[in-house]
Amino acid sequence: MSKRLIITGAAGFIGSSLSDSLLKNGLTVLGIDNFDTFYHRSIKERNIETALKSSSFKFMEGDIRDQDFLDRCFSDFRPDVIVHLAAKAGVRPSLIDPKLYLDVNVMGTINILEMMKKNNIRKMIFASSSSVYGNNRKIPFSENDCVDYPVSPYAASKKAGELLCHTYNHLFNLDIFCLRFFTVYGPRQRPDLAIHKFVNALLNDEVITLYGDGTSSRDYTYIDDIVRGISAAIERVKGYQIFNLGNSRPVELTSLVKLLEQSAGRSAHIKYLPMQDGDVERTFADISKAASGLGFNPEISFETGIKNYLKWFKEMKSDVGGPDLTIE
Ligand SMILES: NC(=O)c1ccc[n+]([C@@H]2O[C@H](COP(=O)([O-])OP(=O)(O)OC[C@H]3O[C@@H](n4cnc5c(N)ncnc54)[C@H](O)[C@@H]3O)[C@@H](O)[C@H]2O)c1
Repeated sequence: MSKRLIITGAAGFIGSSLSDSLLKNGLTVLGIDNFDTFYHRSIKERNIETALKSSSFKFMEGDIRDQDFLDRCFSDFRPDVIVHLAAKAGVRPSLIDPKLYLDVNVMGTINILEMMKKNNIRKMIFASSSSVYGNNRKIPFSENDCVDYPVSPYAASKKAGELLCHTYNHLFNLDIFCLRFFTVYGPRQRPDLAIHKFVNALLNDEVITLYGDGTSSRDYTYIDDIVRGISAAIERVKGYQIFNLGNSRPVELTSLVKLLEQSAGRSAHIKYLPMQDGDVERTFADISKAASGLGFNPEISFETGIKNYLKWFKEMKSDVGGPDLTIE
């Protein structure tokens, strides 16, 4: 069993949820994060509050593009596995600052791979994304489908990350699993993502903006299922493999809004705008490979997940307060 892990992006949504779960299971974690300004530092500090109470959790603040910082991280902590989650996330902002996205997501990933080589660390899990499928016509999306046509710099950066992981597996025999996450939601969800923005608008009686005609769909996947999938990958990582981690039950945008209205007991004020550049029509994961290779089987229904999310959101608002938790 893997005992010691480095998690990059440990203060983020997925990284902090994974850290809590691994610590609960008795593992030792070094979390790395630079508190990137994409969203508020206070949210990320709150994310790692629980982990910081554990004597098995160490945290180092710094940037994965900073070689000296990484040398310091790896000099006194030898992990069995690295879970590389740190990235500039989000499709739309990657159109505004593509160079920064490529710098962090590609050069940052090379830095981590080089550190592995230098320190003889053999195993890594890489956070890839359903966005690599672009406007794939065939559904559900399978790991065998062609992903040569990304439609945003973010998607291109994730595809580049996968290619680098393959290269380091080929050249240096590193064991790497690339996990393509499909729109992850649940407590601590990033504030730039639709569910967070819609709930915030709904509870504040503000307008919800829908891009397109409302029929676009996403394969929303609950955070606990994603954490279970990553944990299984940590235990099994061998060779180079790509796995979809999704729910395999896409939900249309208008159905999402209806469910949020029902769950919150409120009516939404909706404004429709055209689809935005970089956005894809739908995502839909074929999870048969993850089922056989990782024993992955999503357990949380969308209805339950949304209920849990609303509960968390209301508690978080009353704790942290402030109108600035949602970024636009
Ligand atoms: N949330 C999703 O729906 C989703 C879907 C597909 C893929 N992913 C991928 O999963 C990973 C985690 O996503 P998330 O939703 O938790 O995002 P997040 O933004 O909450 O977490 C990413 C963390 O990385 C940190 N980070 C950014 N740049 C850094 C740098 N240069 N050095 C060190 N740390 C840095 C940020 O401060 C942040 O805490 C990302 O790689 C993302 O691309 C997420």
